[in-house]
Amino acid sequence: MDHVNTPARAARTLCLTLLLAAAPLPAAHPPAPRGVGGAVASAEDQATDAGLEVLRRGGNAVDAAVATALALAVVHPQAGNLGGGGFAVVRMDGAVSTLDFRETAPAGARKNMFLDRRGEPVDGSSLVGPLAAGVPGSPAGLHELHSRYGRLPWPTVVAPAIRLASRGFVVGERLASALEEHADLLSRFPETASVWLPGGSPAAAGTIMRLPGLATLLRRYAEHGPAAVTSGPAAAAIELVSRRYGGVLRATDLAAYTPVWREPVRFRAWGWEVASMDLPSSGGIILAETADLLRRTGWERAPRFGAVQAHLLAEAWRRAFADRFLLGGPGSTGVTAVRLLDPAWLRRRAAGIRRDRATPSDRVEPWPGRRRMESRETTHLSVADGKGNVVALTTTLNGSFGCGLLVPGLDLLLNNEMDDFTTAPGRPNQFGLVQGEANTVAPGRRMLSSMSPTVLWRDGEVVALGSPGGSRIPTATLQVMLNLVVFHDPLQAAVDRPRIHHQWRPDRIDAEPDALAPETLAALRSRGHTVLFVPSLGRVNAVRVLPDGHVEAAADPRGGGSAGVAAEGRSPR
Ligand code: GLY
Repeated sequence: MDHVNTPARAARTLCLTLLLAAAPLPAAHPPAPRGVGGAVASAEDQATDAGLEVLRRGGNAVDAAVATALALAVVHPQAGNLGGGGFAVVRMDGAVSTLDFRETAPAGARKNMFLDRRGEPVDGSSLVGPLAAGVPGSPAGLHELHSRYGRLPWPTVVAPAIRLASRGFVVGERLASALEEHADLLSRFPETASVWLPGGSPAAAGTIMRLPGLATLLRRYAEHGPAAVTSGPAAAAIELVSRRYGGVLRATDLAAYTPVWREPVRFRAWGWEVASMDLPSSGGIILAETADLLRRTGWERAPRFGAVQAHLLAEAWRRAFADRFLLGGPGSTGVTAVRLLDPAWLRRRAAGIRRDRATPSDRVEPWPGRRRMESRETTHLSVADGKGNVVALTTTLNGSFGCGLLVPGLDLLLNNEMDDFTTAPGRPNQFGLVQGEANTVAPGRRMLSSMSPTVLWRDGEVVALGSPGGSRIPTATLQVMLNLVVFHDPLQAAVDRPRIHHQWRPDRIDAEPDALAPETLAALRSRGHTVLFVPSLGRVNAVRVLPDGHVEAAADPRGGGSAGVAAEGRSPR
């Protein structure tokens, strides 16, 4: 999506720069840490420190990303995990690859497993308890990432997580309030309550938490790799607790799980090369479709933060999310990225966008099927090493603390990713939405995701980014990307700036409190948009490698995350 530099464009760029000076920014955030030797941005400082430690020991971006992800499995149990799954986009020595370690439906899963005999959804069964759990992909996935690209010995990469679980870690404000908020879920299962609600109450901020079962599991994982989790006593313990509460997850499912290297979704945007995740995530497809529609409608030429930009974003997302409706995991009947990103289709989509009026979502001809919305608890980490290699990795249990069930003896929380499938065809889910046929449950199938780990590069500069937030993931990721590639924001400002969101249904723009000036809001309403103000949209963690060899990391102030660099100092380049 290159554009040529004309005098008119230069004048417009100047106007945009002036507008930028008045652009909304939330409370001042310090500039992104800048240094050398690598950078990490993640949801928790103790996990960021684990990644930085591995970089300082000579690890590359993949070593550090895996160490950070494993540390999150200890200190960020809401979403960090060994009992869930995720996706990683890796750029090593200039080559990009993507790893799908998304959970799969167990062999015993059935299309109507969340419906009763009358075809009515069984309340909460796709969200709470082991029936909601997909086959975890993280144990094999993180190991596979390291096997292909890691430089340090595997035990060195696992070591920080073992230390955090065995010696203990400080419960931060954010974890303490998540435990408080989800105490009902955690109290549903005595196995979980005994660890996370000691004495009946959530651990308070500042207390030291030890997870001896997880420490032992991680030690075995360091020694034996994924087999430590997917076979033997650990797999037996997972099957036992699954059976106890009516789940269909079995040791044989764990043993059969394999992560898959896939081709990324690739596109060009404003002179940058972009690579993101293809199915079973819809994230990369939504990013690519939206970027294309914005280019076709001249989005970058409209005043920054004005009504036209917000309107065009909403119209592009409305159409991209309508198309998401058709998607399902590989092997399903859903359409492919190639088909959805076909220029003829995108031309047709763009032609339907009016600058002066919102198109009601009911009139955005959906491809057959309906879209859905995910829970918002997921976590994203971005890592760069001193050689300019980067990893964008998003991982999830789906809901906060997954299905709420902890495997005793392993301190491992199981996910509730089965709720990302179409669990009740034709019926509204908990969010009042119904879902598409291509994403129905089938044994071994991967449930559709919105996770969008993304890497982009141009002229020696490389950025890795992504976000948690269910359906807000691609929209938050795209806006940070636009702030960088169109407006050349500093990394931290690009992450900080207020965001908006539209997802086709409900037909409404969600906006952060500072995202829309009063006149912009009025202009959007006069175009026919409904606007709802929400506290926050996504939590983007990003790193950037600069052409001179310096690295930067930015954590999202919305998420209480943390960012750091391996070393202060100047690049020798
Ligand atoms: N569970 C959230 C997602 O995969 O999009």
